[in-house]
Amino acid sequence: MFFRDSPLREARKIPPSLSVLGIVSCLPCSPRKPKLLSHAYRYTAYMTAGKAGGLLREVTTRSADETIAFGRTLADLLAPPKLALLRGDLGAGKTTLVKGIAAAFHAAAEEDVTSPTFTLVHEYRGPQAILYHIDLYRVDTQRELDTLALDDLREEDSILLIEWGEKFPRFVRERDLEIVLERAGENDRTIRVID
Ligand SMILES: Nc1ncnc2c1ncn2[C@@H]1O[C@H](COP(=O)(O)OP(=O)(O)OP(=O)(O)O)[C@@H](O)[C@H]1O
Ligand SMILES: [Mg+2]
Repeated sequence: MFFRDSPLREARKIPPSLSVLGIVSCLPCSPRKPKLLSHAYRYTAYMTAGKAGGLLREVTTRSADETIAFGRTLADLLAPPKLALLRGDLGAGKTTLVKGIAAAFHAAAEEDVTSPTFTLVHEYRGPQAILYHIDLYRVDTQRELDTLALDDLREEDSILLIEWGEKFPRFVRERDLEIVLERAGENDRTIRVID
């Protein structure tokens, strides 16, 4: 795992649109494949709509385990209350990263963190924080979003980790952090934490 804290001057080099990160690759075996193309299009669009932020951390991991290990290092940046968007293509490693984050907060064992693809919200309670892992891939309308009542989850001790949250501009505006995962090879992922 290559890890570096970026100096401030480097953070300023982030292009305002971040669109350079919006490269969409295909995951042939994904159960979500039927929706892939529409999301590929939308993903790029949302990237350009995102606000510019400073690069806090950047890492390239070579395996799922390395991504989990990186997630374990993020507790300081994610101290509650936080709303963080997890951005990246299907299979980029967003859920894998949450395994490490949940472990860092002693909220769940890595193996107990699974994708909330169908359940939409998973809750993991730790001694100092409640993690809500949310997947909005299948949520398309404001009405559907409202039924999740995500605002009710935003408490002093809560951390909302939202996959596909960039579908809703409100979350792009309100997020504290953005963690962008980009496929850089079969098992390589570049992960950037942006504030
Ligand atoms: N460096 C890596 N980091 C993370 N995952 C990796 C890495 N290399 C390979 N993988 C594999 O890629 C897959 C990532 O799946 P994961 O469910 O975490 O993706 P996701 O971004 O949450 O996708 P989705 O949008 O479908 O929910 C896993 O099968 C994992 O083992
Ligand atoms: Mg996921």
